[in-house]
Amino acid sequence: KTPYLRPFIPKGWTGEYLFVGEGPDEHEDEVSEIPFTGPAGQLLHRLLRETGIADNAAAFVNAVRCRPPRNRTPSMAEIRECRPFLLEVLAKLRPAKVIALGGIALAALRNSNDNNITRARGRQLVVPGELDLCFVAWATYHPSAVLRGNTQYLDKIREDVVRTWGAALAPLDASPTGSRTLAVDTEFSPTGELLTIGLADKKCAVALETTKEAWREKTEETLGGASWLIGHSVAGDIEKLVAAGLVTRNKAE
Ligand code: URA
Repeated sequence: KTPYLRPFIPKGWTGEYLFVGEGPDEHEDEVSEIPFTGPAGQLLHRLLRETGIADNAAAFVNAVRCRPPRNRTPSMAEIRECRPFLLEVLAKLRPAKVIALGGIALAALRNSNDNNITRARGRQLVVPGELDLCFVAWATYHPSAVLRGNTQYLDKIREDVVRTWGAALAPLDASPTGSRTLAVDTEFSPTGELLTIGLADKKCAVALETTKEAWREKTEETLGGASWLIGHSVAGDIEKLVAAGLVTRNKAE
């Protein structure tokens, strides 16, 4: 019924948290037209208050913009159709911290159909697609899993949210350019074509996609500003970056 459920941004939002859900539930689609106002949302709001996150610290958006028929799980194609809008929301809001709730949100943020929350929780996520965005992202279980009877997830969600408290706020407009030590991670296609480079310093992580304009310039500039690169061993990322002409062997050593 609601073709595009808009993000919910509380009055006086502090810019601290953006929670990414799956998609609207029945109540949100048909009645409130506001994300996370149904049963899962109420549980989440209660949990956030308990963990000390103020109402005006948390904004909410969904991976998919409308409710799939009969509430089925959205397909990866549908998630990807909606992903540009999600990235637009991220770019506009520039939250300091992003938390994916459940596998669909995780798949949407990472642009990958690996939606295993158990594996992803507790680690920072790299969100490919934007050159200049800098935020810290994590994943945890979706509160609706608790409502479906997996009550053991309640403590785990709480634990995951608490873990994000102390995380340093990423500088909102910084890219890793100029940092002295960079960690690198690359993704190549099966035919050896470079797809994505992830770069991180102590404060910021970005993913550069080779489909984006100016990626090469940006990558060379960023890598050139580093004195040290940390990455996988000989056969891995660094050697591949040398082979692609993005890093000199000298620096790679
Ligand atoms: N409501 C939302 O807005 N998103 C969810 O993922 C679940 C409920």
